[in-house]
Amino acid sequence: MGPRRRRVGILISGRGSNMASLIEAAQAPDYPAEIALVVSNRPGAGGLARAEAAGIPTTVVDHKLFPDRASFDAEIGQAFGKAGVDLICLAGFMRILSDEFVRTWSGRMLNIHPSLLPLFKGLHPHRQALDAGVRIHGCTVHFVVPELDSGPIVAQAAVPVLPGDDEDALAARVLAEEHRLYPLGLELVANGKARLDGARTLFAAESRTALASSEA
Ligand code: GRF
Repeated sequence: MGPRRRRVGILISGRGSNMASLIEAAQAPDYPAEIALVVSNRPGAGGLARAEAAGIPTTVVDHKLFPDRASFDAEIGQAFGKAGVDLICLAGFMRILSDEFVRTWSGRMLNIHPSLLPLFKGLHPHRQALDAGVRIHGCTVHFVVPELDSGPIVAQAAVPVLPGDDEDALAARVLAEEHRLYPLGLELVANGKARLDGARTLFAAESRTALASSEA
């Protein structure tokens, strides 16, 4: 029996394709994390059905039913606390969490952003990439800090921007890498090979092989 697996809570707002890749990865018996609960802020999120189909408990915390951000966040914190969650993954989650919530989960909350941070933070990163004319684009798994898309990086994957790419083609190429990268990033944090140390990510020496994931 190896070390106890970390209990992961996933926050979604939409179809949950990144959530689905985390659920699949956690089915491996030696994966250092188990998915304990999926929370969506939107009742109609497609990811809820995918989680339920995989036998993962789900809860809806509808932000429209809360008077302010603090009470919405507190409800989410309660749901994760009851489920014994000790690590949160944001996966296509489209709400800004309060600084207090983010600080409470400092070092224990990850996000995936579809760009090579610090480039192209915020919305429409693929459009930003095309407008900037970059030839290499990709995705980033990072610790969540109060500033949007700015936390210390855990893992990145790169994809080429090809002639004739439009936003959809580029997004699809990046998304395929996201589905490979997020389980890798969560694994590094769950097994302690990557941890938040102040404003930097600290990597254990032996995780060298998992850092650069340039092979497509
Ligand atoms: C993905 O590109 C993800 O990086 C971004 O939202 C998109 C949809 O994610 N955060 P998902 O399919 O809902 O996981």
